[in-house]
This record gives sequence, structure tokens and C-alpha cells, in this order.
Amino acid sequence: MSASNIKCGLAASAAALLAGCGAGAQPFGLTDLSGAELFERFCAACHGVEGRGDGPVAAGMSTAVPDLTRIAQRNDGEFPAGTIRETIDGRSLAAAHGTRAMPVWGYEFWVEEGADITAEQEAREIVRRLVQHLAEMQAPARGE
Ligand code: HEC
Repeated sequence: MSASNIKCGLAASAAALLAGCGAGAQPFGLTDLSGAELFERFCAACHGVEGRGDGPVAAGMSTAVPDLTRIAQRNDGEFPAGTIRETIDGRSLAAAHGTRAMPVWGYEFWVEEGADITAEQEAREIVRRLVQHLAEMQAPARGE
């Protein structure tokens, strides 16, 4: 997918009536992006393209940005997909964990996709793809 396509799609979802994206073009949503593309767009600024916690925004943050390739290592070699899904989505954790340096992505994606029932399914699908992407970027356990 080309960069101009992505830009066009984002503009279209921000203002559905925007002209100039080509008559008859399919509406573009975040569910058209792969896990890697979603990660690059929403997460890499802080976590780095490869997830190592070295994105350009990380240095200026008061909270340390974790290395996402070592989640499994930090968790006795197992990737806790369910917990990670809830961490990214954030909506079920909001109050319990006090302040959080990350946006509540479940909410962000839901709004971005139109804030209706379909958007809820799409937000879940987007988070699912991100979790899958993170699972694939886990460094092998030490000694392997
Ligand atoms: C504004 C910077 C920023 C952005 C953008 C960001 N994160 Fe984070 N992320 C953090 C910080 C800081 C933490 C540490 C926990 C906290 O304070 O929220 C974190 C924690 C996490 C964790 C928990 C890691 C662990 O070891 O438990 C996951 C998973 C995660 N981020 C995934 C993502 C994904 C996926 C995206 C994109 C949708 C994303 N982050 C975007 C800053 C960011």
C-alpha cells in the first residue's frame, strides 16, 4: 500500500465527505492495515519501528518506554497475549492503574473507525492484529 493511499484514507475517515480520494474508491479504514503497518503508524513513535523502546518520542518521555520484543523474556518465556491485549486496548484498565503514559488505544481506534457497533468490532480486530504483531517480534528466550 502506498503512502499516498494511506494519507487519502486517513483524510477520508476524518471527514467522510472529503473529495479527492477518487470517486468509487473503497472507504479506507484501519482494518485495511496489517499489524506491522498499524504498529508503525501508532506505536513506533515511542516504541521504535522494531519495538525496542527507542522511538524518537521515547527520549523526551518521563516514563520509560518498554522494549516490546522482550515481553516474553520478562514473563518467563511466555507471551501473555490476553494481558497484552488489555494493556493496548486500555479501556478495562483505565481507572485501576492510575495514570498511564500510553493513549487508551481501544478508545482511539473505536473513535477513528466511527464510534459505532461496527467500530467496536474493528477496534478489537485492530488490537488483535497488534497483539499478533507483538507476538511475532518476541526475541527468543535466552539460551535458545
Ligand atoms: C506516547 C508514547 C507511546 C505510544 C505512542 C505507544 N506506547 Fe506503548 N507504552 C508506552 C509507555 C511509556 C509504556 C509503559 C507503561 C505506561 O506507563 O503506560 C508502554 C507500554 C506498552 C505495553 C506494555 C509492555 C509490557 O511489558 O507490559 C505494550 C504492550 C504497549 N505499550 C504497546 C503499544 C502499542 C501496540 C502501541 C501502538 C498502538 C503503543 N504501545 C503506543 C508509550 C507509548
